[in-house]
Amino acid sequence: MKVTVAGTGYVGLVTGVCLAEVGHEVICIDLDEIKIRMLNSGASPIYEPGLEDMLVKNLEGGNLRFTSSPKLAYNQREVIIIAVGTPENPDGSANLSYIDSVSQDIAEHITEEVIVTIKSTVPVGTNDRVKELINSRKPPHLQVEVVSNPEFLREGSAIKDTFEGDRIVIGSANQQAGDIIEDLYSPFKVPIVRTDIRSSEMIKYASNAFLATKISFINEIATICEKVGANIEDVAAGIGLDKRIGNQFLQAGIGYGGSCFPKDTKALVQLAGNVKHKFELLESVIKVNNNQPRLLIEKAKAIVGELKGRRVALLGLAFKPNTDDMRESASLVLAKELIESGSIVSVYDPIALENARKVLGDCVKYCTSIDEAIRGTEVTFIGTEWKDIKEYPINRFKKLMDTPRVFDGRNCYSLEEAVEHEINYVSIGRESVLQPIANQND
Ligand code: UDX
Repeated sequence: MKVTVAGTGYVGLVTGVCLAEVGHEVICIDLDEIKIRMLNSGASPIYEPGLEDMLVKNLEGGNLRFTSSPKLAYNQREVIIIAVGTPENPDGSANLSYIDSVSQDIAEHITEEVIVTIKSTVPVGTNDRVKELINSRKPPHLQVEVVSNPEFLREGSAIKDTFEGDRIVIGSANQQAGDIIEDLYSPFKVPIVRTDIRSSEMIKYASNAFLATKISFINEIATICEKVGANIEDVAAGIGLDKRIGNQFLQAGIGYGGSCFPKDTKALVQLAGNVKHKFELLESVIKVNNNQPRLLIEKAKAIVGELKGRRVALLGLAFKPNTDDMRESASLVLAKELIESGSIVSVYDPIALENARKVLGDCVKYCTSIDEAIRGTEVTFIGTEWKDIKEYPINRFKKLMDTPRVFDGRNCYSLEEAVEHEINYVSIGRESVLQPIANQND
């Protein structure tokens, strides 16, 4: 099929490349000309395992193109996928200005009957609004249908999630239009769920809100575990075996971040408010999450005393492993709190250092190895469970730090190894390993 994807952010780019990979003829459009030049030269602006190779292959194969011209992008197309961002307004609602301007471009430039499908996360009712907007401006003889098709890609495994996802949701008012979108995805071999448009829009928000709820729930249980002497890892494993609960998204830590959960949970609270429903459960989920990184800092202060003037390392900055994305990262909250408390902070991340520099500027020392970050420090915080951090030999904390005190926000190590190697080790939802430290100098 002849497909155009509007927006080459995370979702748009991965979708465009994967659709080209299965043989569709894909054009991706973005207003950012620098980005378009970069993509046409075969370089991916985001870090995503496997994406760049697939991008180059399909550019060379001729079924993938990038442009910033609406005239070229919307000419003779069968399907147009809108995948532009819906950032957060100051009141937490979704900002739909990019959706509106793309819809206007589509209406002005289409030359055929076309199906427009919205992949961006949008408040319930937006697909209907876009349909009205396009219909009021398009050439009168062309029929345009709008189909909702939310995405469920996770950063770091977006290609796998596209080809082997749990489901593809298609919400349509017109059966035939929905069938065409079903055909578009038929090479992916992923179960299809067909619904009306508004249910499809709601599925996206409800999914993300539920997953965020699972995380805040397990984090609350972790806090109680610490106080009653239980172990959150065992508790999570025990409850996760119940198929009705499921074993995923029960990893306690310093909370969720990223471009979706924080934004979408707030947007759903706002959406509920618009129809006069106070979504108290989700409000609590957000509140618990906002407080989660601070709890770890408080635990550190209770043991170490004031952090002012202390040499502190922070390992892991991305909002989760396998991405350089720092948006709403819980580690970033740690970093900012540490800077504000007057600590002398050195940070390490295997790939997010460049992005970190844009946010943290000159306030911290950037280190390209864990050894460098922790050498001579008095306290280490772990913010992201990168593989190299999890596999870092715990005895090196004792060897390189002035005082081996590790506050682990992602439970990377076992309590047994902390005891064995005489590390002061405080994690989430588990007993603290506190022992006299031989070389402690304060
Ligand atoms: C999420 C959804 O999973 C995806 O379906 C949606 O389309 C976009 O948002 P993503 O933001 O890439 O994907 O990350 P995800 O893997 O879901 O993790 C989100 C955050 O939750 C991360 O900060 C992660 O560290 C945290 N998390 C996840 C936990 O703290 N504990 C867990 O058990 C799982």
